[in-house]
Amino acid sequence: MINYRGNKLSVENKYVLKIAKNNQTPFYLYSAKAIKDNFEQFCRVFKKINPLICFSVKSNSNPKILRILKGLGAGADVVSGGELLKVLNAGISPKKIVFSGVGKSTDELKMAIKRKILLINAESYSEIALINKLSKSSKRKTSIGLRLNPDIDAKTLGKISTGRAVDKFGLSRKKLIEVCKNLKEFKHIELNSLSVHIGSQILSDIPFKKTLKVIEEIIRKTKTHFKFIDLGGGFGISYSSKEKRIKLNNYSNLVNKFKKKYNCNIIFEPGRAIIGNTGILVSKIQYIKNSISKSFVIIDAGMNDFMRPALYGAYHSIVPLIKSKSQSMKNLEFVGPICETSCKFSSYKKYYKIKEEDYVAILDVGAYGSVLSSNYNTKPLPAEILIDKNHVKIIRKRQSLSEIIKN
Ligand code: LLP
Repeated sequence: MINYRGNKLSVENKYVLKIAKNNQTPFYLYSAKAIKDNFEQFCRVFKKINPLICFSVKSNSNPKILRILKGLGAGADVVSGGELLKVLNAGISPKKIVFSGVGKSTDELKMAIKRKILLINAESYSEIALINKLSKSSKRKTSIGLRLNPDIDAKTLGKISTGRAVDKFGLSRKKLIEVCKNLKEFKHIELNSLSVHIGSQILSDIPFKKTLKVIEEIIRKTKTHFKFIDLGGGFGISYSSKEKRIKLNNYSNLVNKFKKKYNCNIIFEPGRAIIGNTGILVSKIQYIKNSISKSFVIIDAGMNDFMRPALYGAYHSIVPLIKSKSQSMKNLEFVGPICETSCKFSSYKKYYKIKEEDYVAILDVGAYGSVLSSNYNTKPLPAEILIDKNHVKIIRKRQSLSEIIKN
């Protein structure tokens, strides 16, 4: 969906250069077809299981994109009152919404209780007590899940690992078993699920398989029948030729056996696997500055527009919108305009011929791209554009300077 036609980068059948000439850079550009294909591919892999797929809204919360996913049958995994309102506005049924997070506020919990969402995945004893208290005052019984911290290392970046005992998420096995035993004291809670999420950008199925074993142990020890087992998200994608997209067929068979054995419904919460490779960030080269050891290619997108490289040292490939025939040997470093050394993107030893005022695209920025953008250095939020059935649609307008300086 996002590839070269001849030497011109295209999204679906549109030349990106043409869009770049008509819109102020930097901007995010997505392919609706790629989103649909990824979602359908995910459904296909887990077809036998017939899971509820709750798209992880933190990865991309553009309302138009949420509506596309709703149309494909997705539910939503939300982590704030704002995300909850966004998905309800997109028309996603409360019965397909799960709410995770270690620090849900009282107001956020009230909102979720009122809307009767499928599950509030509770992460501490105090949170369960609060949900119980709030449900009692609104004369309700609230459906909850318990989030387990299985103490499993997902072997991903430390900053996006969530399933080790040292990570803040979930209840330890011991605590969770204890909570299950004492749950009767909470009359306004209905325990319907056990949930896990061990991290993000996981490229091997081994940690997932290990997690299933821990879940079995919990079911055995608590003698509880969970109506739902929420296996979270975390499925990795390939950002470079070194990283191979995770293969899920084997895991799917295992989950299928598990489902039959324990007679439960399965929930997944993928974000990156659905949206990651469906978007690019288009940017213009402002200056090329030569130093002793390398050339800095200063583009107009910065860490305010796209944080992953600065935040995690994440690699994202950068490609020219028009590919020259030959490449030259030169140390190039793509950097942005923000006044921080970490406002830099990828480096190359060999690159296509480029010059000032040419355009480039940072690839695979659909997940955790636009959602992490900020007004740092008082820069406006970039536009988001979607190619959908041959149409170029602006799905978020570029913020104007007057909007930012108002407050
Ligand atoms: N479920 C829960 C409870 C989560 O915390 C997350 C992500 C997901 C599902 C979706 O994970 P995914 O399928 O997208 O891997 N900003 C970081 C990633 C943070 C992930 C946080 N939680 C990055 O840019 O890599």
